[in-house]
Amino acid sequence: MRVHGGPSREGANRPLRRRLRVLVCCLVPLLWAVQTTDVVRAEPVADRGDVRARIVGGTATAPEAAPWAVALTDSAGTHFCGGALVSAREVVTAAHCTLDPTTGAARRPTDIRVVLDRRDLRTRKGEVIAVEEVWRHPRYEHFTRGDDVAVLTLRSRASASPLKLVDAGEREGYRPGTTGTVYGWGRTAESEPTSPVLRSVRVPVMSNSGCSRAYPGFDSDAMFCAGYPDGGKDACGGDSGGPFVVGGSLVGVVSYGSGCARPGYPGVYTRLSSYTTKIRDVAVAPVR
Ligand code: ARG
Repeated sequence: MRVHGGPSREGANRPLRRRLRVLVCCLVPLLWAVQTTDVVRAEPVADRGDVRARIVGGTATAPEAAPWAVALTDSAGTHFCGGALVSAREVVTAAHCTLDPTTGAARRPTDIRVVLDRRDLRTRKGEVIAVEEVWRHPRYEHFTRGDDVAVLTLRSRASASPLKLVDAGEREGYRPGTTGTVYGWGRTAESEPTSPVLRSVRVPVMSNSGCSRAYPGFDSDAMFCAGYPDGGKDACGGDSGGPFVVGGSLVGVVSYGSGCARPGYPGVYTRLSSYTTKIRDVAVAPVR
């Protein structure tokens, strides 16, 4: 776009001004609309009263009820994701949690802290353990393409009891209608801040066909969906990497979703039974 093109002659001035007016009245609003689309779209859901004060529909949860639920923070102590302890030395989280969301660069192990037994992230209660190694699924590219799984190996043993990892190839826990519980310190609605306290919400697993209607790129080997057709209960931003638990086993990892708790858009989770063998392989301590 050459608005300031060439020396200004008397005669060329008028078309230039008209061009400028076109620029201001059409292009500027267009750019503005493109830039703010996400925010504009986010409002209607967040404004519906009953969705507001919850994890998106859940309740505050004591660490004793979920001792294996961990928060991931950076070296400054800022929470960015969740995870689940599956051995004394291993935390399962999302692959996308191991990358810096703005630059896409890999987070260094020394820049990740695992926080255990801390219900309220504003306190210093509980245990903080440094990360020795990060294993991110080697085929991971983007959460919408699957393989959104990572294993963090802790520098020392956690005292909390680990959660049982789903068996390889298990199908039981993924039957449509099976209710699971998802845990995290994420947003309580699309445009609400993240929660200082651990929250959890129960959501039913959705069929693969229902899920691919919502997300055309859905890959049933790598993912599953959970949520109600009418929305209202879901994980949200900041819950990523957190556990989805069915019958005392870790079956899923919070991966992505279109907004949060929107009707017709369930949450998408990593189908861990496809990755159990790999996770057991990279673990340095026995995984249940
Ligand atoms: N990617 C999000 C995060 O970084 C998790 C989104 C989950 N969204 C959902 N609607 N279930 O925390």
